[in-house]
Amino acid sequence: MAVFVTGAGGFLGQMLVNTLIAQGKEVLGFDYTIPKDEVLARWKGNLAQKGNLAQKGKAEFCQGDIRDAKLIAELVAKSGTTDPVVHLAGVLTAGCDRDPRSAIEVNVGGTYNVLEAALKNGKRRVIFASTIGVYGRGLPQPVTEDMPLEPDGWYGLTKQSAEQMGLLYVRRHGLDFRAVRFAAVTGPNRVAVGSTSLFTSLIPEKAARGEPYAIEVTPDTSYPVVYIKDAVDALIKLMSVPEAKSRIYNISSGNVVVDKMVAYIKNKIPSASFTYAPVEDIMAVVSGYKEWTIGCDRAEKEIGWRPSYTVEKMVDDIIAQTRTKG
Ligand SMILES: NC(=O)c1ccc[n+]([C@@H]2O[C@H](COP(=O)([O-])OP(=O)(O)OC[C@H]3O[C@@H](n4cnc5c(N)ncnc54)[C@H](O)[C@@H]3O)[C@@H](O)[C@H]2O)c1
Repeated sequence: MAVFVTGAGGFLGQMLVNTLIAQGKEVLGFDYTIPKDEVLARWKGNLAQKGNLAQKGKAEFCQGDIRDAKLIAELVAKSGTTDPVVHLAGVLTAGCDRDPRSAIEVNVGGTYNVLEAALKNGKRRVIFASTIGVYGRGLPQPVTEDMPLEPDGWYGLTKQSAEQMGLLYVRRHGLDFRAVRFAAVTGPNRVAVGSTSLFTSLIPEKAARGEPYAIEVTPDTSYPVVYIKDAVDALIKLMSVPEAKSRIYNISSGNVVVDKMVAYIKNKIPSASFTYAPVEDIMAVVSGYKEWTIGCDRAEKEIGWRPSYTVEKMVDDIIAQTRTKG
């Protein structure tokens, strides 16, 4: 029996697998992207004896495409009928806009494959990573889960469709589908394909590395974020609570306000070198979130999640991690 994690080779997926095996869980990870050899060796337990990680569980990894229904059915069956399925594999904002057809196939079709396989293997609980990009613009603040869903990009639309599909499986089949709507997930070593929020991670990380950084947004940009450790904590809480009454939860720890973040970092690292070089495509996405705050009361009340990291604490942690791990 193992937790089946799609997107296990990605930013959130790798940290989720690390956390699950540290907690003693068995995991079957799946992704198109293969993690580095050292990561796979650690997951198999081969490095645990060197004291690299307080590791109790283990993870196997299988490479493949989430669009391959037969493969997903086989792997979900292989991982058993009891532990949850965590579905993180997906195409992010820029990738969706670049190729909407393939984004639909991956983000919607891939979720269908996961839901079908979970249903046929013991109606396993499914945890899905959605986004605050499902909401429309011009909403009253703070933005809460029952507000209108009118995404203005392919990413939000595919995630909204996947959420709705999950809820159909709840109504029609009694499947225990649950989803988090993440704000921009921020953290060290973010290797992002198609993420418009990379600047939230790179501002502290570049400063910690002593590298200059031309920030791709304007100084007055304000963007809702969640620190990766808090995001993983939300996934684990959602996997674990016996009941998640409302099924869908906003997850955010506050807003990065770029000029404030820069000032905070320059106070800590006076040699940090920043310039501004706003990129039109990125500004087109982020400028719409300027006035936003994300309401997370439902997550606190129903699944016991609240952020442990303020933006300042997040910056401190990214700097510390970058300095120690490089
Ligand atoms: N990072 C964020 O800011 C953020 C915000 C909201 C929601 N999310 C969601 O969280 C999930 C994880 O995001 P992340 O930040 O780890 O991004 P990521 O890009 O690091 O991880 C996504 C993973 O999905 C895999 N993938 C893409 N297409 C695939 C395919 N056809 N078959 C198999 N695997 C495929 C990629 O290889 C990648 O490893 C995604 O579903 C994303 O939409 C992320």
